[in-house]
Amino acid sequence: MQAVIGLLVMVLGASYGLETHCDGRQDGAHCFGPLGGTVVFQLMDRALETQRYQFYKSSNKTTIILTVINNTIVHNGIKSRSSFNPSNGTFRVNNLSRTDSDEYPFEISDGINIKENRALRLTIQAPVSSVRLASECLSQGEKRVSCSSGGGDSPQYSWTLDERSLTDTELQSVNTETNSITLRQHVSGALACSVRNNVSKVSQGEEISNCGFIFINCTSNGTQISQWVFAANNTLCVEPTTSSPTTIPDSSTAEKWPIMAGVLSALVLLLVVGVAVVCAQRKKRSNQPNDEDEQELTYAVVKIKQRSGRQVQQRAEPEVEYGQVKFSERPRLTADPAGEECVYAKVRRGR
Ligand SMILES: *[C@@H]1O[C@H](CO)[C@@H](O)[C@H](O)[C@H]1NC(C)=O
Ligand SMILES: *[C@@H]1O[C@H](CO)[C@@H](O)[C@H](O)[C@H]1NC(C)=O
Ligand SMILES: *[C@@H]1O[C@H](CO)[C@@H](O)[C@H](O)[C@H]1NC(C)=O
Ligand SMILES: *[C@@H]1O[C@H](CO)[C@@H](O)[C@H](O)[C@H]1NC(C)=O
Ligand SMILES: *[C@@H]1O[C@H](CO)[C@@H](O)[C@H](O)[C@H]1NC(C)=O
Ligand SMILES: *[C@@H]1O[C@H](CO)[C@@H](O)[C@H](O)[C@H]1NC(C)=O
Ligand SMILES: *[C@@H]1O[C@H](CO)[C@@H](O)[C@H](O)[C@H]1NC(C)=O
Ligand SMILES: *[C@@H]1O[C@H](CO)[C@@H](O)[C@H](O)[C@H]1NC(C)=O
Repeated sequence: MQAVIGLLVMVLGASYGLETHCDGRQDGAHCFGPLGGTVVFQLMDRALETQRYQFYKSSNKTTIILTVINNTIVHNGIKSRSSFNPSNGTFRVNNLSRTDSDEYPFEISDGINIKENRALRLTIQAPVSSVRLASECLSQGEKRVSCSSGGGDSPQYSWTLDERSLTDTELQSVNTETNSITLRQHVSGALACSVRNNVSKVSQGEEISNCGFIFINCTSNGTQISQWVFAANNTLCVEPTTSSPTTIPDSSTAEKWPIMAGVLSALVLLLVVGVAVVCAQRKKRSNQPNDEDEQELTYAVVKIKQRSGRQVQQRAEPEVEYGQVKFSERPRLTADPAGEECVYAKVRRGR
């Protein structure tokens, strides 16, 4: 967002004409002026009445640009696009073109003798007009981001992440020829590319993501796994290994329920049959001596209580509870001492 704002400001600046300041009070100053924009030369602190100033273009002093005598502009060779201010010694030149790139000698005299001779150098540069970022995710989750710019002379590229410079641990490689960088998997945040030259600076930002990769750090089958994986394809530490006894997902538990139910039913059936057989045999034995005896076999409640918890790992043992199983006797049997009484009261099978 900030990058976008920055870009807007620069574009607005360009349309109004960029402006640079050049301190020409020292000999040999190297100044830069924006193409189509303005340069402000600081030639002196303020023009003095007693002095004569002459500003030339080109080292052989063939062209006189400005002559100021007694605080008055005597000559201005580029009058249409420049102005001199004697009170603060600034010479402002607008609408710079490439031909303005040159050496500019400057002479101060008292009218007879030259008191000071100096020169400055002006280089006109086209300002950077646009910056474009292109990013792509690489196969292992690295990000390659390239930056390109339009318009500017001698552009210099620099990168920031969350408004600070990138570190070696974040950078995997840098290609200065294509102005591209490769960022490691873990890097994310607001990446910005700034393109600058001596007259302008433009940046463009982009939010850098993890490219759908996640860092896996877990123990599987006794081995530590630490690596970046594509989240959508990831199989590491997601599905249980068959040898692992600690994790069984709910789906497989659900699949086992019908089997469990079958086993339980069979068990109950066996028990019921077993009890029936035992009782039948007893009855048979007691019936042999006096076969007229008829006994009624009554089963009360037979129910299976099952644990409500889903602890599948434990061998489920059903709690079978027998209510009263008893043989009711015929009244006449009381007369027979040989008659055997068979009464089960609350036969329980707990765990
Ligand atoms: C500068 O000009 C003013 C009038 O504009 C004049 O009085 C003064 O003497 C001049 N100074 C020099 C050094 O010529
Ligand atoms: C002064 O130098 C300019 C180039 O800087 C050249 O074109 C021009 O001919 C020179 N003039 C003289 C008189 O040497
Ligand atoms: C010099 O004076 C002009 C006009 O008063 C002003 O616009 C400009 O900002 C001043 N420059 C400096 C460097 O003080
Ligand atoms: C700027 O200079 C160019 C030629 O160098 C000229 O065509 C143009 O009209 C100038 N613009 C202004 C605003 O002075
Ligand atoms: C021009 O800009 C480049 C890159 O920003 C910088 O290295 C150099 O020092 C600048 N030159 C001057 C004279 O300011
Ligand atoms: C992975 O996890 C272990 C402990 O869980 C930790 O000691 C190790 O530093 C982690 N490795 C990474 C690269 O985060
Ligand atoms: C678990 O590790 C053993 C050796 O450490 C290996 O033989 C076995 O294939 C592995 N099992 C799985 C499911 O990766
Ligand atoms: C993810 O799986 C798809 C299809 O199986 C495959 O084409 C792709 O290369 C995989 N991506 C990664 C990063 O492994």
